[in-house]
Order: sequence, then structure tokens, then C-alpha cells
Amino acid sequence: MKRALAVCWLLLGCGSNPKNDANVLRERLMDPASCAPCHQKQYQQWSGSMHAYASDDPLFAALNRRAQEEAQLGTFCVNCHAPMAARSNATTDGLNLGTLAPSLRGVTCYACHSADRITGSHDDAIHLADDGALRGEYEDPYPNDVHGSAYSPLHDRTQSQSATLCGSCHDLVNGHGAAVERSFVEWTESAFSSVNGATCTQCHMVKDAERSPAASVPGAPIRDLHSHEFPGVDLALTELPEADRQRQAVQAFLDTTLQTALCVRGQGKSASVLVIVDNVASGHAWPSGAAQDRRAWFEVTALANGSELLHSGQVPPGSEPALLDDENLWLMRDCMLDGQGNQVSKLWQAASMDSNLIPGQLSFDKASPLYYQSHVTRSFPKDPSQSLRAFPDRVTLDVHLLPFPLDLFDDLFSDPARLDLDAAGVATLRAQLVPLRVGKQLVWTPAAAADTVHGGLSYVERGTPVACVTTTGMNAAADKVPAPEHVSAACGR
Ligand code: HEC
Ligand code: HEC
Ligand code: HEC
Ligand code: HEC
Ligand code: HEC
Repeated sequence: MKRALAVCWLLLGCGSNPKNDANVLRERLMDPASCAPCHQKQYQQWSGSMHAYASDDPLFAALNRRAQEEAQLGTFCVNCHAPMAARSNATTDGLNLGTLAPSLRGVTCYACHSADRITGSHDDAIHLADDGALRGEYEDPYPNDVHGSAYSPLHDRTQSQSATLCGSCHDLVNGHGAAVERSFVEWTESAFSSVNGATCTQCHMVKDAERSPAASVPGAPIRDLHSHEFPGVDLALTELPEADRQRQAVQAFLDTTLQTALCVRGQGKSASVLVIVDNVASGHAWPSGAAQDRRAWFEVTALANGSELLHSGQVPPGSEPALLDDENLWLMRDCMLDGQGNQVSKLWQAASMDSNLIPGQLSFDKASPLYYQSHVTRSFPKDPSQSLRAFPDRVTLDVHLLPFPLDLFDDLFSDPARLDLDAAGVATLRAQLVPLRVGKQLVWTPAAAADTVHGGLSYVERGTPVACVTTTGMNAAADKVPAPEHVSAACGR
């Protein structure tokens, strides 16, 4: 059926009323499957991306349902998660998305490639040309019978403007004016938005190693192609094509985002552990985006003769990190507050944000004091007047990232039947919400800290000896600042 459609389409006009041609063409261009015959690779990669999944996501369905029940948000959520459904007036609240055609669900090819103008910095402020032409990076597109082609700086990775296309959906300001998701503004504030920085697509759409035609059409030229997998943090909880590849791409991203060093400061019974983290490779804060739902934490153990001197960040499987009773816990997330300063869990309730994310690199110039603002430290025990009871002989650091809060999950899925699920279905979803590992475990021993050939480093800071290990070549002795803290009591650590 789909193939027949594509063939008919090639012979444009077949059997159709010329007056309706523009509409027919628009409908056809809106369907991602119709691109597959010529752009197989982009189609396949996109099909496994969070953009394809954006409105099929069961977390989205559950949270959107709650948003409609509690706050009647209308199309607020679907404007970004299923923009073509909202723009075609096929939905007023996103509750009927399951019944809609694939061309209306998720962030489709058309939602990005027919954009010709950006009208604001957040909440899907994108103008679509709807003129039968698809926009891309080519100034000399090879002609085809299906769609017009046009160059657009919004789709050209070498142009900083291209970040505004991504940015209009990757910044969310809610009805109370709270800037809940801020990847774009964070990027704007970082050194990555400068001329020697990088645009969103330069990091998130990796260039293929080999050049090849962008369309399987005879005569099409050889081009640089860019991955449409869009890895970030999220993995699909329900079946999605290319799931293994997406998992690998996400893991590769997470493994290169941070530089960490693990140090022991002081001597004898006055020793404490120092963790140093630098957000080197994410072009924005870490974590970013839906950071109100992210839980990033640093698990630290310190041992002497096999007995534990300290163990922070030990989150039992299946439990919510923010509820862990652990005075030393270093938990990074955006905490949302209502007008009275109480913590809230759903993005439409937020009146303000209390954030302790690590900012993106503010300067690439090591001589600038800004360079070190994303070089942050935290002590274990957290209270500087306290120490480990003895000098450790082994210390470990593991960094974890849970993509969605488990207490919010339990709240949203408390009545499975309302979401067309049963208890077993809910349990299956929940079981997949496991923390991701960010980088490899870092192990400190006195010998490893002394091994300067393999990342060991010792220095003296304000009269106190510090001995470190790092696997990333981080210069632990360089300047750094205390990690940002939540300011409100409600958000705690
Ligand atoms: C009949 C084959 C065919 C189909 C079907 C097709 N395209 Fe294309 N498309 C092409 C060709 C050929 C080019 C030009 C490639 C080049 O110049 O290297 C192209 C170019 C593009 C470009 C780049 C335009 C530019 O100027 O940079 C985009 C974006 C694009 N197509 C998107 C789509 C989308 C989205 C669909 C589905 C709605 C689609 N195409 C369907 C053949 C096709
Ligand atoms: C029409 C709105 C829209 C546009 C435009 C858009 N995105 Fe997205 N993007 C989304 C939504 C919605 C999601 C989340 C889907 C989900 O997880 O349910 C997403 C997810 C992502 C993710 C995955 C995040 C994660 O944690 O896994 C990345 C990476 C991403 N987008 C990058 C980009 C880039 C780069 C651009 C510009 C080329 C872009 N996006 C343009 C709406 C958009
Ligand atoms: C989130 C926005 C977004 C979505 C969704 C999206 N693209 Fe793209 N696409 C881009 C951007 C941006 C570029 C330019 C990449 C660059 O040059 O950095 C691009 C490039 C392309 C190109 C040129 C070849 C290349 O790899 O650079 C083609 C063809 C294309 N896209 C087709 C598609 C098709 C087909 C779909 C749907 C199956 C799709 N795109 C979905 C943003 C998107
Ligand atoms: C220098 C490379 C780089 C640039 C530039 C960049 N990103 Fe990222 N981004 C990353 C990496 C690496 C990650 C995964 C790290 C992580 O969050 O743990 C990431 C993660 C993300 C996520 C998921 C964040 C989360 O924690 O949920 C989103 C969404 C995203 N990026 C969007 C964007 C947008 C939009 C832009 C442009 C305004 C952009 N990125 C620019 C490298 C980059
Ligand atoms: C401005 C565009 C925008 C709006 C409006 C928006 N989202 Fe999103 N949403 C995104 C983007 C972009 C991501 C991916 C961010 C990331 O990966 O860090 C996302 C991620 C998500 C996720 C998965 C990631 C997570 O764990 O939180 C859910 C669920 C979600 N949104 C639900 C909603 C609901 C429900 C609403 C309405 C109350 C909504 N969104 C409104 C853009 C938007």
C-alpha cells in the first residue's frame, strides 16, 4: 500500500483533482514512511530515535493525561511531542494520539524539514513553510519528482542559527513562566555557542565516516550524511527499531561527557574524599533538558582493611534516589518549586526552579577564570569539619543517571486501567527504568595515586596533601569551584 502510494506520487497528479494537489502533497510529505524509498538510512535511524517515539512514549502518555486532568493544558505538550497533530488540529489534548496516523505522531521529518523561520526561543516557536519544499543543508540539491528542495541555514550545522531550530523545542517555559527545560539557553550561555564551539547538530548528528548519496536516486551526488539517531539520555521503554544501536550511541555519549578525578585529601584520621567533575563534552549543563526528571548521583565508597569508612549514594535497585536517607548524597537535578516554595513533581506546577546542574563549559581559554566554573568539587563526608575515621586504602567512584523519578512513575501509573494497562504491564515498564552508568568506575588506591604514568597525581592545596586518580587525563590540581548547591530547604542536598 505504502509503495503503491509512493509510485503514484512520483507520477504526480495521478487521478487527483489539481485543486487539491497542494493538500495531497502536504499530506504525503508529512508521512515519514513516504521518505523511506529514497532516504532509507535517515528513515531507519529516525525510526529508532526519541523524535519518532516522542508521543508514543508511555511516560509521555501518562504525564500528558495527568496534565489534562489537573491543569487542562490543551495542546501545550503535543505542540512539541506531536507537532503535526497539533498543527493539523487532529488533537486538542493529545489523549487520542494512539488513534492517529504515524504522520501525525512524534517529531516527524516534516516538522523539522519544512521549517523556514523561527519565531521565538521556546515552546515550539517554529514556522513551517508548507510550500512543498523540504529544507536542508544543500545549496545545490539534485532535483527529484517528489518534493522541492531548498537551502536553509536552520538545517546547516556550520551555522549557529541551526541551534535555534532545535532550541525552540528544547527550551520549555511553562504557564507560570518557569524555565523548566533549558538546553538551548544553556548552550547559548556556554562557550559552545561561540565561533570555535559547536552547534547542536555537530554533536547530536554525527557525520558518517564514509560519504554516500543522500538519496537512492540515479545520478544523486555523493554527500556527507548525518546520523538521525539523536542520542541523548532516554531509551525507549516500549518496542522501537534499532534499540540496541540507540543504547550503544547513548552509552558512548554518556561515557565521554564528564571528566572525573577521585582524590583523598589530608592525612591519617583527618582524611576525606574529594570528587572533582568537569562537564567537558555536553554542550550545555549536565544533566540537561528534562533535568527535573533526571537523577544524577555520585556513589562513593571508602574502605580501610576491607571495612567501609563511608558509602554514599548506595541506592537500592528500584528505589527513588531523591528519597534516599543519606546526608552525604551528591544528587544533581532540577528541583521544581511552587509559589509557596514547596517542592512539586509535575512540570506545569512549577513557579520556579532550584537547580544544581553543572554548567556547560563557559570558556575554552584556560587563562580565563570562567574556564574553571564547570570544574566542580564535592567532599565526602559533605561536612568539611568531618573526616573519614581512618586513612582509606581503597576508594571507588561510580556515576549514575536515572532518567525518570520512580516516585513520580508510581504516582502516574497508580491506576493502570486508565492508561489501558494492567499491573503486569506497569511492572514491565517500571523494570526498565534503571540507572545508566556514566563512564567507568574510578578506583583510588595509594599505589594508583602514585602511578603518574597512568593518571595518578599528587599536589598540595593550602598546606594539605591531595592524592588523586583520573582515567581521563583531568588535571585535578587545576583551579575548581565548589559544586552548585540547591538553595531552598525544600530541595535539600
Ligand atoms: C523519489 C525520491 C525521494 C523521496 C521519496 C524523497 N526525497 Fe528527499 N531528496 C531526494 C533527492 C534526490 C534529494 C537531493 C539529494 C542531493 O542533492 O544530494 C533530496 C533531498 C532532500 C533533502 C535536502 C534538501 C536540501 O536542499 O538540502 C531533504 C531534507 C529531504 N530530501 C527530505 C525528504 C523527506 C522528509 C522526504 C519524505 C517526506 C523525502 N525527502 C522524500 C529524493 C527523494
Ligand atoms: C518539534 C520539536 C522538536 C524539534 C524541532 C527538535 N526536537 Fe529534539 N526532541 C523533541 C522531543 C519532544 C523529544 C523527547 C522525546 C521523548 O523523550 O519523549 C526530543 C528528544 C531529543 C533528543 C533525545 C534526548 C534524550 O534525552 O534522549 C535529542 C538528542 C534531541 N531531541 C536533539 C535535537 C536536535 C539536535 C534538534 C535540532 C536538529 C532537535 N532535537 C529538534 C522535540 C524536538
Ligand atoms: C529533529 C529534526 C529532524 C528530523 C525529525 C529529521 N531531520 Fe533530517 N536533518 C535534520 C538536520 C538538522 C539536517 C542537517 C544536518 C547537518 O547538516 O548538520 C538533516 C539532514 C537530512 C538530510 C540530508 C542528508 C544528511 O544526512 O545530512 C536528509 C535527506 C534528511 N535529513 C532526511 C530526513 C528524513 C527522511 C527524516 C524522517 C525520516 C528526517 N530527516 C528527520 C533534522 C531533522
Ligand atoms: C559539544 C557537544 C554538544 C553540543 C554542542 C550539544 N550537545 Fe546535547 N548533549 C551532548 C552530550 C554528550 C549529551 C549526553 C550527556 C548527558 O546528558 O549525560 C547531550 C545530551 C543532550 C540532551 C539530553 C539531556 C538530558 O540530560 O536529558 C538533550 C535534550 C540535548 N543534549 C539537546 C541539545 C541541544 C538542543 C543542543 C543545542 C542547543 C545541544 N544538545 C548541544 C553533547 C552536546
Ligand atoms: C517546548 C517543547 C516541549 C513541551 C511544551 C513539552 N515537552 Fe516534554 N520534552 C521535550 C523535550 C525536548 C524532551 C527531551 C528532553 C531531554 O531529553 O532532556 C522532553 C521529554 C519529555 C519526557 C521524557 C523525558 C522525561 O523523562 O521527562 C516526557 C515524559 C515529557 N517530555 C512529557 C511532557 C508533557 C506531559 C508535557 C506537557 C505537560 C511536555 N512534555 C511538554 C519538549 C517539550
